[in-house]
Amino acid sequence: MNRLTKYLTLAAMALPVAATADPTGCDTGEEVLKFSVVTALQGHPKGEAALAYADYINAEMDGRYCVEVYGRSELYPDDETLFQAMLDGDLHFAAPSFAKISGYAAKADIFNLPFLFDGPLHVLEFLQSEEINQIGDQMSDDGFAALGYISNGMRQFSSTVPMRRPGDAEGQTFRVSSSSPVTAAVLDIMGITPMKLKFSEVYDNLANGTVQGQENTFANIQKMGFYEVQAAVTETNHTYIGYPMLTSQRFLDSLDAETRAVFLIGAQLITHERNRFAFELNQISRRSIIEDDGVVLALSPAEMQAWRDAFAPVLDEFKPSVGAEFVDAAIRINAAADPYN
Ligand code: LMR
Repeated sequence: MNRLTKYLTLAAMALPVAATADPTGCDTGEEVLKFSVVTALQGHPKGEAALAYADYINAEMDGRYCVEVYGRSELYPDDETLFQAMLDGDLHFAAPSFAKISGYAAKADIFNLPFLFDGPLHVLEFLQSEEINQIGDQMSDDGFAALGYISNGMRQFSSTVPMRRPGDAEGQTFRVSSSSPVTAAVLDIMGITPMKLKFSEVYDNLANGTVQGQENTFANIQKMGFYEVQAAVTETNHTYIGYPMLTSQRFLDSLDAETRAVFLIGAQLITHERNRFAFELNQISRRSIIEDDGVVLALSPAEMQAWRDAFAPVLDEFKPSVGAEFVDAAIRINAAADPYN
């Protein structure tokens, strides 16, 4: 273990990591509330946030409510069944990626616009701004309430061919997480055919060659082992994965004002606390990939510029459909962000 990895591992150990949510740990008489997650729980930005929220509610609401967290798509995949389960009252909390909610909230496609943000800490400033609530507002038309926003990190491309330039994987098929026309336009520039698959299906379809590449954060690539069946992960940081933390408006409305405040304030506290560690968890995953003999290709400034130049037309094309004012607000926040001070 080199010094950086050791430092990051120790730093992560020092985080207020929640104990494992034990699905059998609820007491008799407590109302069980389910939180469904498709990613890993421990050591993953979304999983850790969900566990921390469960710990918070289980302490504050002891004897009344008990939140159980299920990871790795154990309960629901991130597809229509998840949203329907929330509306039906079978599921109480979920955090599908922004990419997966664009059918409900067109503005969520902002995070598929390539190179809109300079990095995950810049995105965090946007997540902490009032602007982000426009996405939650769009979700509310369909009966959902965004309790907060959980951060993961920037997407990287991986493929069975080591990629340094946008055209290096031309002719291949890449797994995508949504039917976003923005993502399709990006892949089209690369000469790549998109294939939508559930998160739980990605590893097997990479392994059997149905798809030859994908895009994801280091945390997702490492926790799901995607790098094991790819020649290299190219550090493009081209788009961002984060999550609205959702419940149904019906569930919130069923609570008295004091109880509702506990659920709302808890989400604000936990997302604020956990999002500060999302970058570190992705860095730990990056190091773990390399230490497990996975290949991470870092790009030179000139190589990065070639990706930026290639994808530049996508921003102009999709800015109107995402919302020009919304995108301009993100551009302003990104430009003014000073995340290291
Ligand atoms: C994916 O499907 O690749 C991601 O959205 C999974 C996740 O929840 O981070």
